[in-house]
Amino acid sequence: MRLVCARAYASIANLGHGFDVFAMAVNVACDEVTLIRGGRGLSLRVEGEGARGVPTRPRRNTVGVALARLLSDHPSRTGLRARILKGRGSGGLGSSAASAAAAVVAANRLLGLGLSRAALVPYAAHGETASAGAAHADNVAAAIFGGFVIAEKADPTRVTRLAPPAGLRFALAIPRLELTTRRARQALPRCIPLADHAQGCARAGAIVAAIARGDVRALGRAVEGSFAERARAHLVPGFAAACESARRAGAAGASLSGAGPAVMAVVDASHADARAVATAMCEAFRRAGVTAEARVGRPAPGARVIEAR
Ligand code: HSE
Repeated sequence: MRLVCARAYASIANLGHGFDVFAMAVNVACDEVTLIRGGRGLSLRVEGEGARGVPTRPRRNTVGVALARLLSDHPSRTGLRARILKGRGSGGLGSSAASAAAAVVAANRLLGLGLSRAALVPYAAHGETASAGAAHADNVAAAIFGGFVIAEKADPTRVTRLAPPAGLRFALAIPRLELTTRRARQALPRCIPLADHAQGCARAGAIVAAIARGDVRALGRAVEGSFAERARAHLVPGFAAACESARRAGAAGASLSGAGPAVMAVVDASHADARAVATAMCEAFRRAGVTAEARVGRPAPGARVIEAR
């Protein structure tokens, strides 16, 4: 085999209280990574509508970092060229994770490694150090497995997957703000009060129970008010107003999407129109002086090989 291309979707990490643990793959954007045997070492090319600002030096790119770790454990007889086709991702939608997930899934097939999806997660998570400064596994686990995941970054990484409710939609407002994951992580407290921990555990349990029962309204109520959201809200002017507008337009609840600046609202498709919710959130941002783009999505499948020859 000479060439393998894999596709992986965007994801909403944390879902409020599952900081660095919960994530949901969403079909609002996807990345494709094509790996071609040839040349020496590892080279990267980045293209597509989301390519602007994505580093092309392998040591600074999530694909380069993930593949370097994979190749140090599973050396290749030949060099590899990676062509990364970036979709219309944005801050808070796990774009760097989608690329890393697609890359390790493609490499697994091209090199005939036969690794399980769970075994690929730590490699892709290591790739996240290039963009976030920390190897968090939530986004990459969702991008690799699809649907809703609980990713436990133990050794070995454990991933529990639950099928998302059928009527679940996400309304997203993507403010035009520069906010790197690294910066958003620096805003987090090193320690949290016991009361915050207890509330976080209660809400995280409620999130899992709501997904297991298929109760979108309960899911929406449970995602709000996490310690990470409180610590980061000031980085996203208009955040509180956008969440309030989402609820008034019929959303069950709203929170930051991952590290932000994207804001996500949980919508029960049988109760409200996700497009109207997203538009209402963008309108709230506009009133706060921030331009934002509205998008809607639903849970997406996991990464898969789309071409191999
Ligand atoms: N769990 C990570 C964070 C997600 O909140 O920093 C980053 O996309």
